[in-house]
Amino acid sequence: MPHPGLQPTGTAHQQKKGDLMAGIDPGREATESQPQRRLRSHRLDDWLRRQDWMEGAAGAVQSAVGAVYGALGAPGRGLKNLLYGTKALGHPLHPTITDLPMGAWTAGVVADYVGRVTHLVPPQAGDIGLAVGIVAALGAVATGYTDFYNTYGQERRYGLTHAVVMTTSTLLMVVSLGVRWLAGEEGSWLPIGLATVGLLLAFGGAYFGGHLTFALGTMVNHLAFVEGPKDYVEVGPAADFGEGTMHLVDAGGMPALLARLDGRIYGIADVCSHAGGPLHEGKREGDVVTCPWHGSRFCLRNGRALSGPATFDQPALDVREQDGIVKVKLNRPLH
Ligand code: FES
Repeated sequence: MPHPGLQPTGTAHQQKKGDLMAGIDPGREATESQPQRRLRSHRLDDWLRRQDWMEGAAGAVQSAVGAVYGALGAPGRGLKNLLYGTKALGHPLHPTITDLPMGAWTAGVVADYVGRVTHLVPPQAGDIGLAVGIVAALGAVATGYTDFYNTYGQERRYGLTHAVVMTTSTLLMVVSLGVRWLAGEEGSWLPIGLATVGLLLAFGGAYFGGHLTFALGTMVNHLAFVEGPKDYVEVGPAADFGEGTMHLVDAGGMPALLARLDGRIYGIADVCSHAGGPLHEGKREGDVVTCPWHGSRFCLRNGRALSGPATFDQPALDVREQDGIVKVKLNRPLH
């Protein structure tokens, strides 16, 4: 859902792309293999779009996640903000955690094979790798399902696929560890095989997670490609900005939300950092605005993200009233 006023990457980026393209041999561009490659890369995307049954399954999972947080009440809201990354990091928590199980499981499976073939590594090394990875995976699963709660459309189908594959991978690791403990010293190839399949599944699941972020923009900062005014620009007569209302203005190409609080005008970027929601259509309570799309809350005075799913703060504006005219500029550079 793009914001109607959202500015694209900018002419500087387009110029850069044009410069790069100018150096490419046009004969190479026109080969037939390139369009065929693109079609192949879209097959999975097209297949997922045909799986209408996934809507019901994804909705059921999202409802279950919502029910768990709802049952937890106020502590649940705090936990959710922690797992989004809004409170502790100001950055999504899920990608910060996911490397831990992947690394520990990879080390564990490698230790399994090296130990079994060469006897240079004790068999417990693989067990420890798996156990550490499972503990870390609990955090990855909790943060992942929390992020999944606010997905929709095609990203929701990718999210469900990612969740199912990664959850299955984690369960295989748990079963592998259980088999090791039951077997004691008489280790067999079964737990090693289970862990190997679990690790391969985790690599496959990571592809879907990466696609969610890099191709579909899930949980990325939706202001990453927005330009804003570095110097003061006029946005309208001061008399237009009455107390108690929110105003959408064009701040040098960047949609901005201005509101007068106790006589002073404050401004932040209007495009919600979470998924691009129009903040000026949200609800204002005092100096807090709530995004109309997924309910993230931001402080109007400084843009701070107070609750998720947004994790990044909104860029704030310096606002000046001069000769009856309101002028704004970014209070710090965006890029
Ligand atoms: S767009 Fe999701 S909370 Fe604003």
